[in-house]
Amino acid sequence: MKIMVVGGGGREHAIIKKLRENKDIEEIYALPGNGGIARDAKCVDIGAKDIDGIVNFAKENKIDFAVVAPDDPLVLGAVDALNDAGIKCFGPEKKAAIIEGSKIFSKNLMKKYNIPTAEYRVFSDAESALKYMDTAPVPAVIKADGLALGKGVIIAETREAAKKAIHEMMEDKVFGESGTNIVIEEFLTGPEVSVLSFTDGKTVVPMVSSMDHKRAKDNDEGLNTGGMGTVAPNPYYTAEIAKECMDKIFIPTIEAMNKEGRTFKGCLYFGLMITPNGPKVIEYNCRFGDPEAQVVLPLLKTDLFTVMNAVADGRLSEINVEFSDEKACCVIMASEGYPVKYEKGYEITVDSGIEGDIFVAGASLKDGRLLTNGGRVLGVTCKGKSLGEAVDNAYKSVKKVHFGNAFYRRDIGARALKAGED
Ligand code: AMP
Ligand code: GLY
Repeated sequence: MKIMVVGGGGREHAIIKKLRENKDIEEIYALPGNGGIARDAKCVDIGAKDIDGIVNFAKENKIDFAVVAPDDPLVLGAVDALNDAGIKCFGPEKKAAIIEGSKIFSKNLMKKYNIPTAEYRVFSDAESALKYMDTAPVPAVIKADGLALGKGVIIAETREAAKKAIHEMMEDKVFGESGTNIVIEEFLTGPEVSVLSFTDGKTVVPMVSSMDHKRAKDNDEGLNTGGMGTVAPNPYYTAEIAKECMDKIFIPTIEAMNKEGRTFKGCLYFGLMITPNGPKVIEYNCRFGDPEAQVVLPLLKTDLFTVMNAVADGRLSEINVEFSDEKACCVIMASEGYPVKYEKGYEITVDSGIEGDIFVAGASLKDGRLLTNGGRVLGVTCKGKSLGEAVDNAYKSVKKVHFGNAFYRRDIGARALKAGED
């Protein structure tokens, strides 16, 4: 069997390593992959947004199954194009990927189907948005409607800051067309939980919960990033909250998408906040989170391809998806200066005897040497019987990875460990 994974970051590396455990898979191609992924898959120089290139490659190489991992190709309709060419896929069609592709769509969906989320207003012209901000409460959360590399959300502490964000998004177009329309949202408080789920549109199977660390610096300071580390499970996500989420959020969302004629098949990511008034949806993503996948997939005991294939066939209910009782921690090693400006091209070396997994996000291969080639360079994931053990193991392994200008947070898991003591 030949498999193709679209994408080229740490998440895709985690997916590929997990797929490798299936002995029926002879070959895995990564489009485009990266220098680190090249050790586990054949990397092909076709960009994740090049839908024609992806489809042609799949046809020419008689790919049996495709996994489309990043948001961009999903929102652009990569799965539709591959299915039209007769290629079976894991991932939602374009009409379902809109749940991430448009915040206005997802907010309106939640409102229509009574799924708990922050109160909000939608604006398509700057003048009305600015006028609304004359009296709206602060902090206010300003969100660009479309995809913006996770950066299209501004938490404005003051009305002035909110107005500046509106000007930047709607007039200066700092996020391009993504900011043509915006959502202004009520500011919620509480711990955040990421829950990725497998769904075929009939059954929804939540995976083990996780906690992302989005800010660049320790103590949640600094700029928002793509994610500087994760732990799983998330101690704030108790059995009681999990049940509430299943009844009030997960199943209603799957049913809402079906009623809208937008059946979602793939990995649906629920970004949740456990507010004093119960769990609410902060965002939906139409894909595995990055770096959530790097802690969730190593804990998956069931064969990943078997689950993905069942999702594609619409028979997820037949599969018993199991997770290990262990805990996992992923520490992202980035280039100093990320997410703003950073240097590339430093050699990455790893001491022998390192424990855990290295999932490479931004690296290239040159004459057999692995060089840094991105802001987020790699993630080191370790497991443990307790969360504390997983965190300690991850930091022990981080010390065995070396490259120029390496930078990482020292407190991944600290908040989760504190929560566990409460
Ligand atoms: P999003 O891209 O929608 O996940 O937003 C990025 C981050 O902004 C989230 O992980 C939250 O930390 C924060 N955020 C988004 N919406 C809200 C909200 N309504 N209230 C408080 N924080 C929010
Ligand atoms: N880690 C957050 C995301 O993948 O969107």
